[in-house]
Amino acid sequence: QPLVTTLPVGPNVTCGTPFDQETTVSDQSTAETLANLLKEDRRFEPPAELAADANVKANAYDAAQADREGFWAQQAERLTWATKWDQVLDWSNKPFAKWFLGGTINAAYNCVDRHVEAGRGDKVAIHWVGEPEGDTRDITYAQLKDEVSQAANALTALGVGKGDRVAIYMPMIPEAIVAMLACARIGAPHTVVFGGFSADALASRIDDCEAKVVVTSDGGYRRGAPSALKPAVDEARTKTDKIEKVLVVRRTGQDVAWDDEVDVWWHDAVGGASTEHTPEAFDAEHPLYVMYTSGTTGKPKGILHTTGGYLTGASYTHNAVFDLKPDTDVYWCTADIGWVTGHSYIVYGPLANGVTQVLYEGTPDSPEPGRWWKIIQDYGVTLFYTAPTAIRSFMKQGHEVPDKFDMSSLRILGSVGEPINPEAYIWYRHVIGGDRTPIVDTWWQTETGAVMISPLPGVTAGKPGSAMTAIPGIEADVVDDEGNSVPNGSGGYLVITSPWPSMLRTIWGDDDRYADTYWSRFKAQGYYFAGDGAKKDEDGDIWVLGRVDDVMNVSGHRLSTTEIESALVSHPKVAESAVVGASDPDTGQAVVAYVILRNEAGDGGPDIVKELSDHVRKEIGPIAKPRQIMIVPELPKTRSGKIMRRLLRDVAEGRDVGDTQTLADASIMDLISAGQATST
Ligand code: WTA
Repeated sequence: QPLVTTLPVGPNVTCGTPFDQETTVSDQSTAETLANLLKEDRRFEPPAELAADANVKANAYDAAQADREGFWAQQAERLTWATKWDQVLDWSNKPFAKWFLGGTINAAYNCVDRHVEAGRGDKVAIHWVGEPEGDTRDITYAQLKDEVSQAANALTALGVGKGDRVAIYMPMIPEAIVAMLACARIGAPHTVVFGGFSADALASRIDDCEAKVVVTSDGGYRRGAPSALKPAVDEARTKTDKIEKVLVVRRTGQDVAWDDEVDVWWHDAVGGASTEHTPEAFDAEHPLYVMYTSGTTGKPKGILHTTGGYLTGASYTHNAVFDLKPDTDVYWCTADIGWVTGHSYIVYGPLANGVTQVLYEGTPDSPEPGRWWKIIQDYGVTLFYTAPTAIRSFMKQGHEVPDKFDMSSLRILGSVGEPINPEAYIWYRHVIGGDRTPIVDTWWQTETGAVMISPLPGVTAGKPGSAMTAIPGIEADVVDDEGNSVPNGSGGYLVITSPWPSMLRTIWGDDDRYADTYWSRFKAQGYYFAGDGAKKDEDGDIWVLGRVDDVMNVSGHRLSTTEIESALVSHPKVAESAVVGASDPDTGQAVVAYVILRNEAGDGGPDIVKELSDHVRKEIGPIAKPRQIMIVPELPKTRSGKIMRRLLRDVAEGRDVGDTQTLADASIMDLISAGQATST
């Protein structure tokens, strides 16, 4: 989920030939496959010092289990409440939960004011790093309080009141965070739309939640050049009539079209406003934000999060999973604030916890491939949180790039957004973490609001590729079709078996879709259906396999796209791969693999397809052997870096590739389709 744009790839454009399937599947091969799936046996114990001084120790699991509501009440005490709650949880109207009933709280006060009141006003909240080199800004908590107060006053003056929605469409600049907190401060739910989305996508989200004000900027810096944002807002205004005012930050100074009736400069409205603002306390269940997730079908779902429970979850998990030491740690999450990871782990969790963090505007490789590692070196980053897709991109460039930088300050590395394949995990730990740092592979979703399944860095002996177990306070399981817990060593559906404070409350404007999407699959048991497949290993640790729709069924056997990808990526010639299950008249589904070769592998040689197929067979077993392997120059990814398997499935099944509007680069599909044409 963190935004990482695909890094440039080399010129190795060749196309493979389809590989004929010659073996039939036998029971023996199934057994072999399962054995191989569970063969990853490397373990990384927590460093002794970290374990001794950990914020959360092993006993927390039992304590939380013995009294779950009591445990969460204790976590809610991390926050400053205006009125304390009188009931922790009301779950009588399932699946509509209420947490901390009767409590009142202001999220912005918790993220900013209280740190200033506690004498930490001079502490740096944000080390902002603009993409142009030397364009930096350090913002203390006291300064942040002033700016958030000014923005709250400015939004009020623009007519935004409690309960009104505000859309935020911005680059990674401090004003984006200020705008979010200003909304929270006045009780106006924000909906942040990722800056890479088109005008259409922006307009449909604004329309759906009826946002009356949009906060944007003239543009931002990407890949060494200013890119524009305001024109998309102008265009969105032609597609929805909901927008009354547009508040515009001047970031790049580029020319913008201007409508005096609607457009307002941030530096006038916010810059001219008072720094005095008294935050109002809102009900714990007051809506904090709506975050749209790109559903695979239909219109995007507006996931609604409320205030008290969400902030409790974000603050607790950020402290527990990153073993946060707020006085000494320097934290950096590379996500974009346009995604839930940016909400929970740049804005609400870290700021509620009073941390010093880095915020970076630009692309990972601009102006040089080692930009990220230089930022870690320059600011002494200790906690670093990014996505496997980024790690794999850096692997492609080779370790020589990060090796040039001193990253000895790092003490914990985080991963989020997709399963991390063991090769990427080991590279991350070794090349970036100097073999010292635990890796927290954090499983969660927009809907869950906060991390659900993850190692605890001072407790868990990490296994490369496993998110391990539900954190204290969370109860997750892997179940079969009927909702029965599967035994260790088997796979099924990932579920969360009891409610948690940061859970989504509904889908904006669509309670039925909420109940249906998440709670109808295992209605009898009352479980939350996450939509992911997972398996439990012999120790009961959880390995998330990816979305259920990415799990293939070949001859009645369930196979994970992720595991085959991981096998392919472990071949020395392979940089990246994507696997889909294509419908097949003989086997139900068949495995089709798309592979990007490493630069140094050239075109891979004449036998590359057979070589890779044999490799998968060796790594996982004959059952996983792809029907077809295609060598491609690039993979189709969304702007958030997720591989669009749907499109690859279309190609594999010989269909036209339909709608490509969410692709970061739509021309990629032409290249891949052309490759398909020549390879079959
Ligand atoms: C996937 C991102 C495996 C999963 C925070 C989930 C993961 C979806 C992991 C949610 C992980 C996220 N291991 N898979 N550590 N983290 N996922 O809503 O399929 O953008 O359902 O939230 O990403 O994506 P979302």
